[in-house]
Amino acid sequence: MKNPEIDPEFETLLDYIKNHRGFDFTGYKRPSLMRRVRIRMQIAEMETYGDYTDYLEVHPEEFFHLFNTILINVSSFFRDRSVWEYVQTEIVPQIVARKDLPRDRIRVWSAGCASGQEAYTLAMVIAEVLGIEEFHQKVKIYSTNIDEAALNQARQATYSVKEVEGIPEPLLEKYFKQTNGNYTFCQNLRRSVIFGRHDLLKDPPISRIDLLSCRNTLMYFNAETQARIISGFHFALNNNSFLLLGKAELLLSNSNSFAPVDLKRRIFTKLHRDTRKEYFLGSSYGKERENNYPLNNNLLRDAAFDISPIVQIVVDIKGLLILANEQARLLFNLNTQDMNRPLQEVEVSYRPIELRSHIDQVINTHRPIYLTNISWPIANGDLYYFDVQFTPLYDPSKNLVGVSIGFTEVSRYKKLQEEIEHANQELEMAYEELQSTNEELETTNEELQSSNEELETTNEELQSTNEELETMNEELQSSNEELQSINSELRLRSEELNQANGFLEAIFNSLQGGVAVLSRDCIIQIWNEKNEELWGLRSEEVLGQHFMNLDIGLPVEQLRQPIRSCVAGEVGVVEMSVAAVNRRGRTIQCKITCTSLVGKFAESRGVIILTEEVDSVES
Ligand SMILES: C[S@@+](CC[C@H](N)C(=O)[O-])C[C@H]1O[C@@H](n2cnc3c(N)ncnc32)[C@H](O)[C@@H]1O
Repeated sequence: MKNPEIDPEFETLLDYIKNHRGFDFTGYKRPSLMRRVRIRMQIAEMETYGDYTDYLEVHPEEFFHLFNTILINVSSFFRDRSVWEYVQTEIVPQIVARKDLPRDRIRVWSAGCASGQEAYTLAMVIAEVLGIEEFHQKVKIYSTNIDEAALNQARQATYSVKEVEGIPEPLLEKYFKQTNGNYTFCQNLRRSVIFGRHDLLKDPPISRIDLLSCRNTLMYFNAETQARIISGFHFALNNNSFLLLGKAELLLSNSNSFAPVDLKRRIFTKLHRDTRKEYFLGSSYGKERENNYPLNNNLLRDAAFDISPIVQIVVDIKGLLILANEQARLLFNLNTQDMNRPLQEVEVSYRPIELRSHIDQVINTHRPIYLTNISWPIANGDLYYFDVQFTPLYDPSKNLVGVSIGFTEVSRYKKLQEEIEHANQELEMAYEELQSTNEELETTNEELQSSNEELETTNEELQSTNEELETMNEELQSSNEELQSINSELRLRSEELNQANGFLEAIFNSLQGGVAVLSRDCIIQIWNEKNEELWGLRSEEVLGQHFMNLDIGLPVEQLRQPIRSCVAGEVGVVEMSVAAVNRRGRTIQCKITCTSLVGKFAESRGVIILTEEVDSVES
């Protein structure tokens, strides 16, 4: 889920500050931090965090004002007075009592000391218990802050009347010298208070501290950063020494490391973490219970470790097998004698995987190693699979103290993974087939489309041909109709002609003489029955014959000249008498009349030869 507090532009601004000025504000709580930045943005008249980042780039002097605004140096002497009364009456005496004075020194740390009020308050409170002389010899108060300007003010140890208002009158008189209307802390004690720049987020904690006061500072950091700083404080403090927090601050995430001494006043004591290797495989549970000390959380943690479903062993920096939880003991067949033995002497060192080299790697690189799917054959021939995680283990001062090795059994997941892989392969194959089928379909589709287009073209051609045919058909039909009408007309004409012919024939046949009609070139056109009778040749035999070629009893040669004259139009009619032999062989005298056949426009079309038998001549 998106964190509503995270504004990417604002985070960019924080990164910019971190990279350019070494101030890391990323661990600070966003709402108050953003409010502080916006104060400066208003003064600089910048609308967005982006604009303000650009502004910082151009105006580096702005960093000074920005840090002054972000680092809130609100402080006062004897702030929350009851706390200091308690420290003076309850805490400092305990510290003094534990110390082997004058050999031991009392070391105090005021972290986030602002302009020194808290450090000098501590000095007065302790001096009240020890006395000024002893304080001077035995006490060191380290006062640190990230803000150099505030530290400089603190080093001056000079405060206004208003600023010293919180100091009880006797103490003010006792520990301060008044100069020019201000109050300066007494030089003797001042020398035991050492001021220095220290960033709680970056710098290593000061060590061997008996009393640590970090008041109203943690509350500016987010929970994760607070936890980190408190871890540092745990390291900084001697066992059973004390931590003072501001009244709004609590130790929620580090409740295992500190126990409240006076919760209301926010005074805590450091719990020393026992070497946890005793807590199992041995009998330390019992001892812990007897102590009935607020270490119950440790017991719970150890019990939780022991029954954890993840197989886990811990090897210390010397390579000794220190811890093995219940699952590890069962799986690797470990027993009490295996504990504190060099790992290489125990079978787990090389089964299911060679551990030493990986442990060495973790120790050398300080980096965790994660190995997956480590197989381990079991009796029935099956394989167990493990993910193995090697994690470096550190003490609070960040020294590497050992390596934790966790074995997570993943046989089920491995099997599932294999099944999934198999299914995936099948799926891939099916997909490929589908793909190729698809491609085929696509090709076929395209082919079909092209065939369709071709068919469409052919269809169009056919249609146009069809239309042409249709037109032709209609034309033919109309021609046919015309032909039919012509035909019937022809038939009519033909009948008329036949009638006319019949009539003509009748006329020609009814004539007493033989009639032959010749064309201009003497081809016989008409040959009537009388001629047939006379000359013994039927009309079918002579029609189309040249008249001069007729081999009949008529001396056609004698007719040549008259026929020519008639055809030439030289004469209209020529009459002559010729002797001829009829078909019976009888000689007959014939009167021949050649008449010119004249057309409608007086043109010569041939000749009509009329043959009349005049007398029979006896041969
Ligand atoms: C409100 S003052 C508390 C002063 C004093 N402890 C008190 O309770 O009166 C908070 C101080 O924390 C300091 N501070 C902020 N961030 C810091 C950091 N990362 N490291 C050290 N000090 C820091 C500020 O400079 C400021 O002086």
